[in-house]
Amino acid sequence: MSSIGIDAVEIWSGNLELDLTTTFADEKGDDPEKYAKGLGLHASSLPDAYEDIVTMGANAAQRLMDRKELAPEDVGRIDVATESSFDNSKPVSTYIAGCLEQVYDGDFHHANKGERKFACIAGTQSLNDAYNWIRAGRNRGRAALVVATDTALYARGDAGEATQGAGAIAMLVDEDPSLVALSPEQGYGSADETDFLKPNQQFPSVDGKRSIQVYLDRMLEAGQQFETQTSSVHPTDFAYIPFHTPFPGMVRKVALLGFRHTVRGTPMEEHLADDIGLQPRETEFDDRDAYEAAIRDYMDDLRQTDEYEGWYADRIEPTLALSRKVGNWYTGSVHIARVSALLDAYSAGKDLAGDHLLVGSYGSGAQAEMHAETVMDGWQNEIRQLTIDDQIADRHDLSFEEYEAIHDVHNYDKDVPRTRFTTPSSEFVFDGWGPMGERQYRFV
Ligand code: COA
Repeated sequence: MSSIGIDAVEIWSGNLELDLTTTFADEKGDDPEKYAKGLGLHASSLPDAYEDIVTMGANAAQRLMDRKELAPEDVGRIDVATESSFDNSKPVSTYIAGCLEQVYDGDFHHANKGERKFACIAGTQSLNDAYNWIRAGRNRGRAALVVATDTALYARGDAGEATQGAGAIAMLVDEDPSLVALSPEQGYGSADETDFLKPNQQFPSVDGKRSIQVYLDRMLEAGQQFETQTSSVHPTDFAYIPFHTPFPGMVRKVALLGFRHTVRGTPMEEHLADDIGLQPRETEFDDRDAYEAAIRDYMDDLRQTDEYEGWYADRIEPTLALSRKVGNWYTGSVHIARVSALLDAYSAGKDLAGDHLLVGSYGSGAQAEMHAETVMDGWQNEIRQLTIDDQIADRHDLSFEEYEAIHDVHNYDKDVPRTRFTTPSSEFVFDGWGPMGERQYRFV
């Protein structure tokens, strides 16, 4: 069986930017370091008045199809992952296919279309659906188009407001991929949790502090199950470890937990013991609170060791570069982290072919998934064609008043003037509502 994975990716950032360390921090009267250092975010991408999950997803998909010289009949499946959907029946993938049919000859009438929902993990679930479809031999030579697209907006004044973002990533899943092959091994950690939800509302109800703990618990559980399927998992087995990144500070926490867990019982733990002692074992303690306090102390020490700092700088920090500039893209977030890592390797001139990535996805509600990926020979050619850095540089930098106006435009409960701040060019735009309440789009 040939390998299956991501053949190519394309990214579309929302055309607006909210600078967190100046515009947002000034307005809130906060120390800019809370954003730059604490959360690890400098700016959020936001959608202009004519942008939404359909336009961003269709724009990313069109770039991907153009670059790979694909026609509609080459695509057997269009899966869209989003937690910003505006319709409980008609899937976003039909809108995106409709957009693409405006600009290509042919149609997607023989492509299976769907919409995946499980908070931020839905993008990875869609990748897995595409993988399984190809592995089952039902693709008949055709590829799958997976689009993760979100407008991650919080109610104004919510603690999550600093972690907003908007953008889409389109991924072509195929046999013998050029970018990365997915491992058949997977680990899951899943439980009924109430950390973040959107019960038929545009802005989420969030228990932010709890969501951090649930993320860590579920990711540990997924990692433990992944370990049962592979001979060993050591933090240095992987060139990069992209995690779901709602904000880089979250990844700082999960990386430390993952490092501690995977070095336990290894020569690395022995080596570190000279400086910080061995890891506390629960059997050594009379009660759970004392054990947890000892673990916290150990992790404080571990974080400051040269070994941990070097590992983090090489394998985790590069995954966060895009997130720092665009914020949380929900379903696209972990896939942006993978691209960040590959862009880092490309600009450093590294030869990654044959190296492995460990990918940790998470969705509130809650579920984590871990799988490994192998970087393929064609990765450099795919990565060098991305234009995300130019897109980020070209965003319109919003004043706080402009930000408030655009936030209201994307609040489905408000009917406000749709004033735009940029001029669309060679892209799909939202063009108003039709007689059945459907959203309409055109290419300009
Ligand atoms: N300089 C440096 N760091 C600072 C700082 C300053 N002046 N002020 C605050 N910080 C640090 C805090 O210590 C904290 O870091 P830590 O968690 O490592 O201790 C971080 O910045 C965030 O500060 P905090 O006061 O906790 O922020 P908050 O209460 O405004 O909210 C979230 C943080 C994550 C709870 C909030 O953004 C949220 O609800 N986000 C949405 C949900 C989410 O993304 N969950 C993640 C799992 S999916």
